[in-house]
Amino acid sequence: MTNRRSFLGAAAAAGVAPLLSPRLLDAMERRIEPWRGLAPLQAATEEDFWDEVREAFPTHPYINLENGYSSPQPRMTWDAFQRHERDVNDGLSFYMRRRRAADHARVKAELAAVAGVPADEIVITRNTTESMATVIHGIETAPGDEAVVCNQDYGSMLEQYRQQERRRGLKNVEISVPLHPKSDDEVVDAYAKAITRRTKLLHLSHMINISGQVLPVRKIADMAHARGVSVIVDGAHAFAHLDFTIPQLGSDYYGASLHKWLCTPLGAGLLHIKKDKIASVWPLMGDTSHADDDIAKLERIGTLPTWTIMAISDAIRFHTLVGVQRKEARLRYLQEYWTTKVRDIPKVYLNTPTGARAAGIANVGITGMTPEALATALFDRFNVYTVAINNVAVKGVRVTPHLYTTTAELDTFVDAIRELARG
Ligand SMILES: Cc1ncc(COP(=O)(O)O)c(C=O)c1O
Repeated sequence: MTNRRSFLGAAAAAGVAPLLSPRLLDAMERRIEPWRGLAPLQAATEEDFWDEVREAFPTHPYINLENGYSSPQPRMTWDAFQRHERDVNDGLSFYMRRRRAADHARVKAELAAVAGVPADEIVITRNTTESMATVIHGIETAPGDEAVVCNQDYGSMLEQYRQQERRRGLKNVEISVPLHPKSDDEVVDAYAKAITRRTKLLHLSHMINISGQVLPVRKIADMAHARGVSVIVDGAHAFAHLDFTIPQLGSDYYGASLHKWLCTPLGAGLLHIKKDKIASVWPLMGDTSHADDDIAKLERIGTLPTWTIMAISDAIRFHTLVGVQRKEARLRYLQEYWTTKVRDIPKVYLNTPTGARAAGIANVGITGMTPEALATALFDRFNVYTVAINNVAVKGVRVTPHLYTTTAELDTFVDAIRELARG
């Protein structure tokens, strides 16, 4: 393992100058900045680097392996968020009338760059639920039209489709994807088989939140498009966790929560709509002042906590500093670190596929224990916080380390699983 000093020495020798920017970096940026040249795969196991990153996050009185709900903000984002709140509050109306629009446009442009899309194809929302609702309820469907969904999609998304079934006669065709697919084709086929002449929409999760499985979105989207079906992707967990741009996925509509892996304050989300699909979505809040294909029609949503939006910019700085490739590599490394150790323990089963079909999130169960009993025992007896998942297809506890998780904490978790499996 390279330590910080030897890495810096090697980086200098290789001409990778540690970037000590003349602009005022705050303390956390200074800590991370010198590691700029560290390659993703090398970074995954570079504990000195992650020690620096860990300094940015709050500590917990328990081992927090439930980072899937939402992420704590790094301290620098939290500080900036409070500063924005104070500054805006001091001159509220003036700020809202004179400066908010420019700040919003700047943040949107920065966010669009992270997503790899033009700024006029995105909307900043409050969360994935709102992003998806904007599309699911904004698209015209006729009675008898069909939507393909999966029983492992997020519950609130399935609820939205069920409401559309009651309200507009949209027929929901619910599939199940295999937990351990041997090939992409197996997953693509599961969706393809559900498509009929009446299928209008195909909804899928980029990363299934309860199992951590990453779906082959591009292949599913290509298959659906070849059959004239529009593709809605729930990227709540994938955005700023996996290294991708939205155009690479081929989705028509993509929603994500920024308070998960981009580590923004709570209440920030993203909706991307491909330019040629914007006209297909009616604004939920009502707007006739913009052209049908102008995404600004979706931004008439009233007064917002604008400081949250401003802090997206600070979260992006932190995200960029750590590097999305290094994030993905580290999160996958941490997941594989513990899943490899529990895989062969008698009575233990994993609900998560291996390799690139997963990243930071995985799900584990013990035969003879309910998910709730397992999550409770982990917390009460071992001080390890996870969440029980009792889905029709996935039963176990979801385990989500974060960038601040140590391998020592994962060792404690693995020992707990071993002991609980012994009975
Ligand atoms: C796959 C998926 N979609 C949507 C959501 C909802 O996210 P939010 O509550 O930020 O809207 C979640 C939350 O965990 C999720 O895992």
